[in-house]
Amino acid sequence: MPVQIEIRDRIAVVTIDNPPVNAMSRAVRQGLSDAITQTEANPEITAVVVTCAGRTFVAGADIREFGKPPQEPHLPDLLDRIEGARKPWIAAIHGNALGGGLELAMACRFRLASATARLGLPEVTLGLIPGAGGTVRLPRLVPSDKALEMIATGRPISANIAHRVGLIDAITSGDLLTTALELAHQADTVSPTLSRPVRSETSAGSLNAQIANIQTRTEGQAAPEAAILALRNALTLPPTDALKKERDLFLSLKDGPQSGAMRHIFFAERATLQSIRETLADPLPVQRVGIVGGGTMGAGIAAACLLAGIAVSLVERDTEAARAGANRVTAILDNSLKRGKLTKATHNERLEAFHAGDQLLSLADADLVIEAVFEDISVKKDVLAQLDHIVRPETVLATNTSYLDVSAIAASTQHPERVIGLHFFAPAHIMKLLEIVTPKGLSARTLSTGVTLAKQLGKIPVLAGVCDGFIANRMMSAYRREAEYMLEDGALPWQIDHAMESFGFPMGLFRMQDLAGLDISWAMRKRQAATRDPAQRYVEVGDLLCGAGHFGRKTGRGYYVYDDVGTPFPSLEAEALIHAESARKGIDRREISESEIMDRLLTAMQSEGRRILDEGIASSANDIDVVMVNAFGFPRWKGGPMYCSASD
Ligand code: 3HC
Ligand code: NAI
Repeated sequence: MPVQIEIRDRIAVVTIDNPPVNAMSRAVRQGLSDAITQTEANPEITAVVVTCAGRTFVAGADIREFGKPPQEPHLPDLLDRIEGARKPWIAAIHGNALGGGLELAMACRFRLASATARLGLPEVTLGLIPGAGGTVRLPRLVPSDKALEMIATGRPISANIAHRVGLIDAITSGDLLTTALELAHQADTVSPTLSRPVRSETSAGSLNAQIANIQTRTEGQAAPEAAILALRNALTLPPTDALKKERDLFLSLKDGPQSGAMRHIFFAERATLQSIRETLADPLPVQRVGIVGGGTMGAGIAAACLLAGIAVSLVERDTEAARAGANRVTAILDNSLKRGKLTKATHNERLEAFHAGDQLLSLADADLVIEAVFEDISVKKDVLAQLDHIVRPETVLATNTSYLDVSAIAASTQHPERVIGLHFFAPAHIMKLLEIVTPKGLSARTLSTGVTLAKQLGKIPVLAGVCDGFIANRMMSAYRREAEYMLEDGALPWQIDHAMESFGFPMGLFRMQDLAGLDISWAMRKRQAATRDPAQRYVEVGDLLCGAGHFGRKTGRGYYVYDDVGTPFPSLEAEALIHAESARKGIDRREISESEIMDRLLTAMQSEGRRILDEGIASSANDIDVVMVNAFGFPRWKGGPMYCSASD
């Protein structure tokens, strides 16, 4: 039974038990409906505490039901009954109260949360808005600017903040149920949420400014716009009208393409390890990570590990480089402290768990070592061959290479079965994606350990076979190639960037390359030059820019030119160079529309995606979508290139 009732000292304790996250499935809704009927009918009962078994309060409606026709009892009706019940309901919240879970809590008379709980309305992240009164009840509990922020961004808040802004009435570090039972005896004097006025301390001017800001940041997405509309309704209409409009908006979004795409990505992100789930066993516990190379990536990976509570030893080429690497790591931790992501005490603890030096021998006791040295196979092989003799026999050795052959790197050791690719993305302490590159002969334990580390770091692991660029960079090479063809055929970098940004990418490809540094892909192209098929079309624009010393943002020039504060402007020099290249190759430049630009880019992604699947480099088309969304900002609300081709 997903909902149980127990009576304690005239208080009914209604427990929802629907693992893993107590989603509000039809069976749970039915159980709650029965609980309302029973508790209302029983004269012994004076109040009801609703709580959850397992690791969390209700994390929302059951998203798996969204593709199907809605089934009774409907959540909004249920919550109306809870709010209108003669016996007051008290929500006792631990873990996450999200979406329909927070809506349930808001329909209760009183909300108590454990100190570590998190509360939020993340529906926009699924292309939705709250559909069971969330947009109408929330601004009656918290100031309207906070309500707008929560509904339109979907970001959950901590119990402390929730308490401060009025979303919850009490917080406890003690036993949640005991405290809830004590409070239940006093709850009947509290007025129902919907009968309270909206909290209007935010001025219209500042709310409008906040709305304009959200609209700019979420252009092209239907849900944030609907969230703004729903909140405006809640602030201006009687609650019953606002509730009806909210429900209509919710239902139309639920059946719309953006929510379908975002739900696809939600489930795809959680299914990336499906093909190996059965084989994952016996991972080596990772408490101490060694990192070789403290540049951009090494420092970011070190910070990611430290932030996750894992001790780190960083090794650089010499003491000066070690100091520079340590400074990079410390700067990231300091920034986390400044932004409130770390307390002072945890910041100190993390720094104490960090050591930087220039001796590989200091990594002897590491459980896992990640090399992030220069992208040069001989340097990487040399580092791994040395480590092979230094670390314990079971220690996992990982490479963060972007393109190089992980099997060849593994072969430089005596124990290739313990070598794995862990391909992080920059900035490594922020980006959620982690490609786990699996050379043939990899041991099950090495793979399990890599996956476990990914989970410890809160990353989304995607498995990739060995090839030049794995999944992410190989996809990027394919659509970059197509974009470069279009440069010669008639488009200019800023037109291609504009088409991509209008499609929903946060940044166009050429601006992104300028930002990352054009020299990185130049080095890769130089490496591939000897083996490149001479019959294949090759665009030299990028090489010519690099040859002229224009590496993008960092040199002030690339496809764009940059002013002192880094604002990009179309580069006349790049434009002239592109025109000259078209002329040199005898190409008659023609106008290429934005829709043709996007069609060609998507087709390139999809064709490369299919090749990647055929070669067994990715386990599923969904994994490719997960990579494109999380590595390169493919718009989540379009589901990824493979999803786009399936839904064409
Ligand atoms: N419905 C159905 N299944 C869900 C679910 C939900 N709301 N939330 C999580 N799950 C499933 C996941 O698919 C996963 O299944 P799997 O084990 O088969 O892969 C399992 O629960 C565990 O999920 P996670 O791996 O994500 O577990 P974490 O501990 O990392 O995270 C969480 C827990 C923070 C609750 C996270 O799962 C999450 O963010 N869930 C979605 C929350 C959400 O968006 N809620 C709003 C739903 S829409 C809604 O409520 C509409 C309402 O307004 C009417
Ligand atoms: P970087 O040049 O910023 O850092 C490399 C660091 O390695 C330098 O600090 C250097 O002193 C150190 N180093 C070189 N040889 C060493 C040795 N033998 N022992 C100890 N330290 C040594 O380079 P970056 O960008 O951090 O890249 C590192 C690796 O990560 C490369 O393989 C790169 O392809 C990969 N990568 C880079 C990404 C990026 O966006 N920059 C993204 C993902 C992977």
